[in-house]
Amino acid sequence: MSLHHLNDALVRPRSARPGHGRYPRLAGLATATLVLAACGGGGGGGGEDDPAAAEAFPEGDITFVVPFSAGGPTDTVTRLVAEPIAEELGANIVVQNVEGAGGTIAAGEVAAANPDGYTVLMHHIGMSTAPSLYPDLPYAPLEDFEPLGLVTQVPMTIVARSDFEPQTMEELVTYLEENAEDVTLANAGIGAASHLCGLLLQDALGVELTEVPYEGTGPALTDLVAGEVDLMCDQTTNTTGQIQAGEIKAYAVTTPERVETLPDLPTTEEAGLEELQVGVWHGFYVPAGTPEGIREELSAAILSSLEDENVISQLGELGAAPFSQEEATPEAHRQLLEEQIELWQPIIEEAGVAAD
Ligand code: MLT
Repeated sequence: MSLHHLNDALVRPRSARPGHGRYPRLAGLATATLVLAACGGGGGGGGEDDPAAAEAFPEGDITFVVPFSAGGPTDTVTRLVAEPIAEELGANIVVQNVEGAGGTIAAGEVAAANPDGYTVLMHHIGMSTAPSLYPDLPYAPLEDFEPLGLVTQVPMTIVARSDFEPQTMEELVTYLEENAEDVTLANAGIGAASHLCGLLLQDALGVELTEVPYEGTGPALTDLVAGEVDLMCDQTTNTTGQIQAGEIKAYAVTTPERVETLPDLPTTEEAGLEELQVGVWHGFYVPAGTPEGIREELSAAILSSLEDENVISQLGELGAAPFSQEEATPEAHRQLLEEQIELWQPIIEEAGVAAD
């Protein structure tokens, strides 16, 4: 099986569904930002059968851990929904970025956190690919986490520094075929959506570019705008503003349909690369063992945030959309995660891609 099949793994998360160790508690946390102040106090307690803890929840700040840099696409989506979730729960939400290793450092830390509902992981498709990419992964996505619900689906764009020579997707293909060894391709680490999309692009063209890993596509985009790297495949939630402002060049959107906010951008299929179709899904997780009552409260708040008008309109402006209420449940989230893990495993094995 070739990398072309990554297409099925990433696109159409809804219909396609085709598709341990212990750490110190969040010891490596980077910057923290308080999203909304609604109450005071402190978390604690927990345990699977702890009705008292569930009854009292939330009585302190809740931390949303983002596994990539601040200002990037995962961070943007998290902060957007954090506000209505905080309102719904009547709690402060602190967003913390724990970067590195394609999101696996953050996931490892949350897997080992106290299962009390006060530490919540946001993650994307990387949750399903990490077991196949990281031989020493210190957590198992299905055993060490409880999915709380899906949030959004985001198309990707193929973008370049504004003075990159090719003007169209067709020209880009020819240019990469002729100059592959001179072209740098930014990504957010092994297993990041940008990495997976970049693999697809290289596989589709049969070329090998020089990959430049960052801790998130937020800083990668800054370097792209500055002309420090040539090319990137990134989510519309990160690239739309810079494309519209002409700060970067865009070649194609990697979804079957054009994106309303970038109407002039052809799909990869229109540009003759129908196998290069990529979409990214995001969801929230708590460590396994978090009491059911607490999980239910968090999931209900997440679901309700997806109906928030500001969330819907801001996601829309960035070319994305929330999952529907039926698609976003914890059960649907677990099912999608299971399917995606199964789908990716043989593809990644065959592709021979792995972290050191
Ligand atoms: C980020 O937030 O930086 C991205 O989601 C990285 C990626 O997956 O490409």
